[in-house]
Amino acid sequence: MRTNVAAMAIGLGQLVSATLSSQSYVIPSGQINGTTGTDTIVGLTAFDGPHISVNNGSAYQWWYFDVVSHDSKAAVVAQFYPGWTADASAVLLNIVWPNGTTFAETISVGTLDLTTVDDGSQGYVEDGAMTWFGASDLSAYHLSLNLPDVGVSGKITMRSRAPSHVACGLNRAGASFDFAEFLQWGNSVPDSYATVDLDVNGTSLTFSGSGYHDQNWGQAAFMDGLTQWFWGHSNIGEYSLVFFYHIDEQLKVKSSGYLAKNGNLIVSGCSNIKVIPQGPRTSVPLNASIPVESWAIYIDSSKHGKYAFTIDNKIEASSSSPVYTRWVGQTTGGRVGAANSTGAAIVEFMNNPLKGYY
Ligand SMILES: *[C@@H]1O[C@H](CO)[C@@H](O)[C@H](O)[C@H]1NC(C)=O
Ligand SMILES: *[C@@H]1O[C@H](CO)[C@@H](O)[C@H](O)[C@H]1NC(C)=O
Ligand SMILES: *[C@@H]1O[C@H](CO)[C@@H](O)[C@H](O)[C@H]1NC(C)=O
Ligand SMILES: *[C@@H]1O[C@H](CO)[C@@H](O)[C@H](O)[C@H]1NC(C)=O
Ligand SMILES: *[C@@H]1O[C@H](CO)[C@@H](O)[C@H](O)[C@H]1NC(C)=O
Ligand SMILES: *[C@@H]1O[C@H](CO)[C@@H](O)[C@H](O)[C@H]1NC(C)=O
Repeated sequence: MRTNVAAMAIGLGQLVSATLSSQSYVIPSGQINGTTGTDTIVGLTAFDGPHISVNNGSAYQWWYFDVVSHDSKAAVVAQFYPGWTADASAVLLNIVWPNGTTFAETISVGTLDLTTVDDGSQGYVEDGAMTWFGASDLSAYHLSLNLPDVGVSGKITMRSRAPSHVACGLNRAGASFDFAEFLQWGNSVPDSYATVDLDVNGTSLTFSGSGYHDQNWGQAAFMDGLTQWFWGHSNIGEYSLVFFYHIDEQLKVKSSGYLAKNGNLIVSGCSNIKVIPQGPRTSVPLNASIPVESWAIYIDSSKHGKYAFTIDNKIEASSSSPVYTRWVGQTTGGRVGAANSTGAAIVEFMNNPLKGYY
């Protein structure tokens, strides 16, 4: 079902035959002592709702949004992270300007009021620092930012162009949210037609591109079970690609590969993808001190053929080496043997420094 947001707003509770009852939550700023369960099964609560009950410093959850411009020159990432510190929640904001200038900062924010309607969530962070309105069927998102401390205000809209999914399948009742130990994942918007319209200290940043939204959560810190992960998403012509490669403490790989074409699923599964970092002296696990030039991605959908993509890292959007690096990339690829398309990507590398790969 595709419904435009204006119609949704009028029709809430009337036109929408919700399968889940609407719920309201308050997620206080900062960390709260306590224990929590974690949602592991799709369909019992809203897909984009809260999935743990306290952010206590080890148990975590976040709402992540990004948009990358079609020409791989500009990007905005906004992530709401409850309990980022003991005393405050945060918006992690990363901006890439078309001239290559980057901005990455963590901004302390207050309480989140959240309502879910069917699968969608609608969040309001104190003072409107960050708000989002997700359609009940996840077909559209409107995000707004109002962060006077860093001079940023404006909005981002997303109209989804690929079905929501979990690591090893689609968003279907009974599917598992599990990806790795202490790492659950729900990808509400794998790819979207997105527009960014921000005012940054009086200069406007506007572009259209590929938008993405997901959530991760877990009952303990995700670093506990991690050596490193590679994650990314891209829109390449008709294709929507999402990959996630998780290397645990024993160096065991868990992978997830998702590919759709014109909004129709080609594959969403856990043993169908290879992700290989490329560049002089690269290996897996990566040594965080060795730069990655590109990523080779191979997807084998047994039913619908084989696909190959290369994502060239174009801009380092944000880095706190050896832990974390994010790039804006340019992707080339498609079905093996057919003509290639190009597109834009966001890729990240997460590394657990305690494992010594740097
Ligand atoms: C949580 O527990 C720790 C350790 O017992 C204590 O120091 C801290 O004050 C508690 N925090 C809150 C918000 O209750
Ligand atoms: C946080 O919650 C998890 C899951 O219930 C629990 O194992 C952990 O001990 C809690 N941590 C704190 C600091 O309360
Ligand atoms: C890039 O553009 C931004 C926004 O106009 C500006 O603040 C920044 O100084 C520019 N960077 C360079 C290197 O010109
Ligand atoms: C806006 O300007 C302030 C003051 O100069 C600066 O601290 C802040 O980083 C700027 N915001 C962005 C997003 O560049
Ligand atoms: C298409 O892209 C893939 C992945 O980058 C590459 O391996 C392949 O050689 C390209 N094919 C053509 C015909 O350029
Ligand atoms: C990683 O690379 C750096 C720079 O070449 C090197 O000094 C370091 O020993 C390497 N670390 C590992 C674990 O191989």
